[in-house]
Order: sequence, then structure tokens, then C-alpha cells
Amino acid sequence: MIIIGINAYHADSSAAIFVDGQLIAAIEEERFKRIKHWAGFPSESILFCIKEAGIRFDDVDYFAIGRDPKAKFLKKILYLSKNPSGSFSAVKNRLENSKKVSSLEVELAQIANLPPSAFKNKIRQVEHHRSHIASAFFASPFEEAACVSIDGSGDFTTTMTAVGKGNQFTVLDSVDFPHSLGIFYTAFTQLLGFPHYGDEYKVMGMAPYGKPVFVDKLEHVIHLTGDGLFQLNLKYFRKGTEGVISYGDDHIPVVQPMYSEQMISRFGAPRRKEDPLTEYHKNLAASVQRITENAIFHIMESLQKKTGLKNVCVAGGVAQNSVANGKIKTRTSFENIYIPSAGHDAGISIGAALYVQHQLLKRKRIPSIRTAYTGSRFTNGEIKQFLSSKNIAFKELSDDLLFDKITDCLVEGGVAGWFTGRSEFGPRALGGRSIIADPRRADAKEILNSKIKRRESFRPFAPSILKEYVDEYFELDDDVPFMEKVFPIKESKRKMIPAVTHVDGSGRLQTVDKNISPRYYGLIESFKNKTGIPILLNTSFNENEPIVNTPEEALNCFLRTNMDMLILENILITR
Ligand SMILES: [Fe+2]
Repeated sequence: MIIIGINAYHADSSAAIFVDGQLIAAIEEERFKRIKHWAGFPSESILFCIKEAGIRFDDVDYFAIGRDPKAKFLKKILYLSKNPSGSFSAVKNRLENSKKVSSLEVELAQIANLPPSAFKNKIRQVEHHRSHIASAFFASPFEEAACVSIDGSGDFTTTMTAVGKGNQFTVLDSVDFPHSLGIFYTAFTQLLGFPHYGDEYKVMGMAPYGKPVFVDKLEHVIHLTGDGLFQLNLKYFRKGTEGVISYGDDHIPVVQPMYSEQMISRFGAPRRKEDPLTEYHKNLAASVQRITENAIFHIMESLQKKTGLKNVCVAGGVAQNSVANGKIKTRTSFENIYIPSAGHDAGISIGAALYVQHQLLKRKRIPSIRTAYTGSRFTNGEIKQFLSSKNIAFKELSDDLLFDKITDCLVEGGVAGWFTGRSEFGPRALGGRSIIADPRRADAKEILNSKIKRRESFRPFAPSILKEYVDEYFELDDDVPFMEKVFPIKESKRKMIPAVTHVDGSGRLQTVDKNISPRYYGLIESFKNKTGIPILLNTSFNENEPIVNTPEEALNCFLRTNMDMLILENILITR
């Protein structure tokens, strides 16, 4: 049984392939197209999946697309008729998007060089939030679990809760567009001066610098309801038919302003890019983060009471809020949590495929997906051949010697580009395509920002920690394989690792497992043997672009920036 899952015509388009229940490959199209959040048809990702599985197009049994234009169709029509838009293009964009989904077989036929009829009976449309939930529940280690998906919107739904058992889940509740926690967060992200798709994490990074003094004021904007859900006060938001995400011919998602004039009169004019970040902005960010957490835990706690379960699976764009994720155990009655590496829309491809595999075909559950390394890979031979063709000098070293050289460089204040194994599926670099540095250096943030990243100074860098030492450094001990949670760092340890300690004493950790990432584990172990610290600073291998996918992109990034060394598998390049 071969199933290809697809997220298409939606931000973070992607593809994933399962062969007889096993995940063979999953990758985001932005890595090929080199445009962040690329939102068209993921042709390169699908071709990559076919190649990785060593199959032909006609071997595929099902193509599962995580989108169903028929979902909540009547509600959608009713909403559109009650909220006629002044903007014709917004409506046109929506209609065109629906049409695109139905032309999937034509697009598949083009890349496969087969007639569209070859795909006619193989396509399955899976509603957006059901895909999110499937991406978390069916990939989790739980036989039974409560499930929640929260995002901006997808298929006219913004929040969905469900209960999963074995190879099935049942939807319990959902919230209709435009009442959306994602839209709430995005509107304030825009107001705070970050207008691009996916900028929300900047607000999360800024929040610890402020105090949540505007929570009361924000309660006029979002109400938590007695049924365990929430409602927006829509007067603060532009009509959904005007303020939505659109995709132009370049397939870059563009977010229209989501706040209304009333929002501006209550919370002030949007900050312009060049305006300074004031105490007011920081306090507003802290308040937005706080109230978002309150809403998430309100939904979750009600779901826990309803289901009586201790396991929870979380997906959707709002599941990228690692600060909230880190508090689930302390703020709710859930005890065990699973969040996939791609909780955002890229994960829709895996979710749609898993939905078909289990919910529709009733096939047996698969082992929990504990790795995000499902993308591109290159051998030492391929890398050497490429470097020779570019006349780049390099050395090939054994792991031990290589790790020794890298950690020497880091201890001396160096920054290294680390490219090993398969690329990660999801927004986080997890030691496959990472830039690494010494977490003990108070000046590491400045070094990284001056040598490579040039990003906002308020944003923290993250620690990768050997799994066995979490308890020694953090106040909570849990598996965090995908950097999906933020935990408080123990007070006594904060001074030892200032480069990865945020202003509030927290760190967005990745726990590194020897069995899953043996080389990255070995590298951190080498650093520990020299310094006593089982942690490395880990940031994504890129410079204002999607994470590098090939040795060529890694080399170009190395040459463009002031990185001190580049490691491609066992190959070392220095300046
Ligand atoms: Fe979504």
C-alpha cells in the first residue's frame, strides 16, 4: 500500500510518502523552490517522494490532499452572503483556490507524464483540521488520546477537538471561521509591526520582555465560552472576506491586515518597521501571549474533562507556540503530550496520508514517528565530487577527529555550519541542517547576529541538549525531540549557558537521543568532554531564506557569511 500525502495551494506546501505504513520521506516545497512558506503545487516534493521510495507514479494507491472545499460548504456560502466583500479579489482568490484543488489530477498528470485519468480514482480529499489531527494522533505513541488542532483557519474551521482510539478518531467540537485564535494572534503580530506570513514567533520571542498588563483590555477582544471554546469580538477584526491570506502567481502567502479601525482606536496605530519597540509594544506582546495561553488551556482543560484521558495530541499553526506547549503539563490535567515536528500546515501532507491509511482504510497503527529526518540526503562521495567541481579545498575526517576539530572551533568562539544526514521536516533545524555555537558565551548572540543572522536582537537562540541531562538543566524533564516546547532553565544553570537562556530564564530545548541522531549526539558529547556542558547552541542553517537543502546551498551560505567552518557529512571546509 503506497500513499502520498499532499499539502497544496496553501502556505508551507509539502509532500510525504508512506509505503506499507512506513514513512519513507516528507519534505516542504520551500526547500526546493527557495522561497519561504511557498504555497503552490509541491511538484518537486512529490517527485522527491517517488524517488526516495524507488517507485513509479502508477505504483501509488492513493494521493491524499489535505483540503476539502466541500467542508462546511453551506456555512461558507452563508458567511459570504452575509459579509459581501468590497474586495472582489479576495473572493476570486478563494474560488480560484477551490478550483485548483479539484484540478489536482491535471497537475499530477503533468509531473508524472501520464494522462489525468490515471489519477481519477486515486485522489482523496481530507478536510484540513482532520488532517492536522491525523498528523498528531496517528503518529503518536498513544492507543487513546484527546486531540486538538488550532490554527488561523483551514476549510472554514479554526479549531477542532477530537478523541482518538486505535485507528480511528471522532470529532467532538469545532469553531467556525472567522472566530480564530490564529487570527487573533496574527492581528496583534501585524499591529506590533511584523506583517509577514509566519511572523508570529517574533511576538512570542518578545513577550518575556514585557508584562501582561493588558489582559483585561484584551478580554474585550476574545471571550472564552462556557462550552470550552472561544469567540472573537468581530468588531475588532476586518471582515473575513477582506482580511485573509491570499496567494499570488508567485505562490508567496500574503496576509492582509486583519485588525479593524476599532482595534486601532483601542490599541493604537500599527507600529511601522522603523519605529522602536517600546515598553508598550513589549507589554502588549506579553498580554497577547498570556491570553492566547489562557485560551489554549481553556480548550484543553475542557477537552480533558470531557474525555477523561491523560494523553493529548496537538497540531495546527498555534501548536508552533512552543511557550504554550511547554506549559501544557503544568496548566492542564494532561500528562502525556505528542506534537509532530511539523505541527503547522506542512504537516498536513503527513496527516492527510495517515487519515487515508487509518481512518478510511482502517489499517493498523504505525509505530510513533519520533524522527523529523525525512528529507534530502547526500553521501560523502557526492559531496566530494561537488566540491571538486567547484575547486573548493576540503578534508575528509573520521567522526572522532571531525568532532574534535569542530568543538575546538566552537570553544574558541567560532560558528560552524553543520550539515549531516537527512534534512528535517518542519520549521526547526534539529542537528541535520544547523548552525552551531558555544552556549556558554554571553556574546554568542552578537557573534551569530554579526556573522550570519542579522535578526532581531530580542529573539533567543535554542539549546540542543543530550537527553540524559534535561533534568540537570531544566525544571521540567520530558522528551522534546522537535524543539516544540519551552521550559524554564534551572536558576543555578542559567549563568552557565547565557547564549541559550532567554530573558525570562527559559530555553526552547531539543532533547537529543543517541538512537535517533547518533552523529549530532556524538558531536555534543565531544563538546561536553571538553567543557562539562552537554549542550550546543543550535539555530537553523540559513540566512533569510528557507533552510539549506543541498551541499551547494550550504556552501553558498558559508561563502556569503562569516561562518568559521562548514561540515558536510565527514567533509570539513575551513577558511
Ligand atoms: Fe492549518
